[in-house]
Amino acid sequence: PVSPWGDASVLIAQPSSKQLIKDAIMDNDFLKNLDSSQVRELVDSMYPREYPKGSYVIREGGAGAHLYVSAEGEYEVIKEDKVLGRMGPGKAFGELAILYNCTRTASIRVVNDAKVWVLDRRVFQQIMMRTGLQRLEDN
Ligand code: CMP
Repeated sequence: PVSPWGDASVLIAQPSSKQLIKDAIMDNDFLKNLDSSQVRELVDSMYPREYPKGSYVIREGGAGAHLYVSAEGEYEVIKEDKVLGRMGPGKAFGELAILYNCTRTASIRVVNDAKVWVLDRRVFQQIMMRTGLQRLEDN
């Protein structure tokens, strides 16, 4: 099968999904300055997850364990019970708690059934650290 969503055994991103993830990372103000090898590793480490209509991907105030890229569906950004905005596919979110070790600054709720790409915080940190050490060795 071409779609990772159709078959649970296919848990890696196909080329078109990889491009969507990469574009989403490069479009995010906090992630766009990563170098290309880091972006490639992030893309290769993401796995798919589905969220039913009305459920929360992120809860404001919670601890952050994952970074996400929206693949399908519509999402609401909610802060103190106010809807701040909406986003669709191709957006990276949940980066703030991962990068700055803060609690989640907003909730993300799915309006309809949604599909996201997920990256575990620990993997994110490993990728950042490995590339940092590589740079030290190269200097
Ligand atoms: P994080 O704080 O980890 O979890 C909630 C996410 O919502 C946050 O990262 C951002 O990715 C996103 N977010 C927070 N505030 C806004 C906003 N005002 N508009 C759009 N997205 C936001």
